[in-house]
Amino acid sequence: MEQRAHWGSRLGFILAAAGSAVGLGNIWKFPYITGENGGGAFVAIYLLCVALVGLPVMVAEVLIGRSTQSSPVRAFHKLAGAGSGWVGMGWLGVAASFVILSFYSVVAGWSLHYTYLSLTGFTVNLEPSQFEPLFQSAFSSPTLNIGWHTVFMGLTMAVVLGGVAKGVERWSRILMPGLLLMMLILLINGFTLDGFGKAVDFMFGFRTDKLTAAGALEALGHAFFSLSLGMGAMLTYGSYLRKDDDIMGASITITVLDTAIAIAASMILFPLLFTQNMEAAQGPGLVFISIPIAFAQMPGGAFLAPIFFGLLVFAALTSAIAMLEVTTSSFIDVQNWTRKKATLFAGGLIFVIGIPSALSGGTDLFGADLEAVIGKNWFDAFDYLASNWMLPLGGLGIAIYTAWRMNEAIRHDHFLAGSKLQVFYKAWLFLLKFLVPVGIILVFLQAVGLI
Ligand code: TRP
Repeated sequence: MEQRAHWGSRLGFILAAAGSAVGLGNIWKFPYITGENGGGAFVAIYLLCVALVGLPVMVAEVLIGRSTQSSPVRAFHKLAGAGSGWVGMGWLGVAASFVILSFYSVVAGWSLHYTYLSLTGFTVNLEPSQFEPLFQSAFSSPTLNIGWHTVFMGLTMAVVLGGVAKGVERWSRILMPGLLLMMLILLINGFTLDGFGKAVDFMFGFRTDKLTAAGALEALGHAFFSLSLGMGAMLTYGSYLRKDDDIMGASITITVLDTAIAIAASMILFPLLFTQNMEAAQGPGLVFISIPIAFAQMPGGAFLAPIFFGLLVFAALTSAIAMLEVTTSSFIDVQNWTRKKATLFAGGLIFVIGIPSALSGGTDLFGADLEAVIGKNWFDAFDYLASNWMLPLGGLGIAIYTAWRMNEAIRHDHFLAGSKLQVFYKAWLFLLKFLVPVGIILVFLQAVGLI
C-alpha cells in the first residue's frame, strides 16, 4: 500500500492550517459583518463562539484526520463502517468545498484584478465617485471575471499538484510570512491615522443594544467559516500529521492566529474609513469600493493599495489551496487516483461550477445582477447556505460523532499523544458533548424561526 503523505515539519502544518483559516473570511468578510452588526457586542459573541465552539470542533476534526490518516469520506468509512450514514458527513464536506470554492474564486479574482489596478496607480488617477462604477463594470465584464477566475484556479491547481510537503506546505511557508509582513505594514499605517481611536471604540466598545439573535447566528456561522471547520479541511490537513504532534497545542495556535488576523484586518480597515468620515456598515462592497476611495484620498494610498490587495490575494490563495486539497485528497483516497488526475479533475470541475458565479454580473444568470453581490441574491445566498447551514451541520456531525460515538480508547489516546495540554481532555470532551451541539441546534432553531 502507498505510504500516506506527511507534512515536513510541525511548523509546516501550522502554517498550512493557519493559511487555510486565514482568508477572505478574515479580511473581507469579518470586517464587513462586524460593521453591519454594530461592532463591539458582535465581536464579543464571535470570540465566545470561537473559543467555546470553534476550538473544540477543530480539535475533533484534526483528531479524526490524524487517527484515520484519511480524507473525510474514507475517514468515516474506516471509523463507522462502509454502509454507515456517517460516511454521508464526509460527502457533505466535499460538497461544501465545491460550493465555497466556486464563489470564493470569483472574489479572489476581483482581488487579483484590484492588485493589478492598484499597481497601475488607479487610486491616483480616479475621482472618489468613480470607484463604485469601476467595481460595477469590472463585475459585469464576462471576459474579466472568467479571465481572473482561470488565473486563480490555475494557481491553486499548480500548488496542489505539487503534493503535501512540496506543494501545499512549501507555498504556505512563502505566502504566510508574506501575508503577516503586509498586515504589519498596513496595521502600522492604521495606527497613525486619526480614525484609529474611533475604530478601537467601534470594535471593543460593548453596545448591548446592538445584540440580535440573527447576529449571534451569523457570529457562529462565521466562526465555522473563518476557522475552515465543518467540511473536513482541518480533518484532511490533520490526516497528514504524525502521531507525535500535539493536536490541542496546534489547534490553539491556529485559532489564536486566525482570530488575531481578523481583528487586525478590522483595525486596518476601520481607521481608513473613519478617517474619511465614512460609515462602518458598507456591506460586501467594503474592500472593493469604500477602501479604494479611502486610499485615493490619503497620502501614501498609492503605495498602500497594492499591499492591501496583494494581502487579499495571498490570504485567498492559501485558503483555496486547502479547499482544493479536500476534494483532491478525497478522490485519491476513494477512487485510488493519482494526485495529478485527482487535482485536474477536481480543479476542472470547480472551475466549471464557478463559471456561472463569474458571469452572474453580466448576463443575469440565475436572476443575478450586480445587486446579487452588493445586496442579497444568489451569490449571497450561496455564501449563506454554506456558512450558516452546511458548515455548522458538518460541525454538529463531527462533534456528535467524536463525543458520543467514537471509540473512547482511540479518542483518549490521540488527544494525549504528543500533547502537553492533557489536562484539557475532560473540558474539551464536555464542551463537545453538550455545549457545542446545544449551541449549534439553538442557532438552527432560531434561524428557522422556532425560537
Ligand atoms: N477559512 C476561510 C476564510 O476565512 C474560508 C474557508 C471556509 C475555508 N472553509 C474552508 C478555507 C475550508 C479552506 C478550507 O476565508
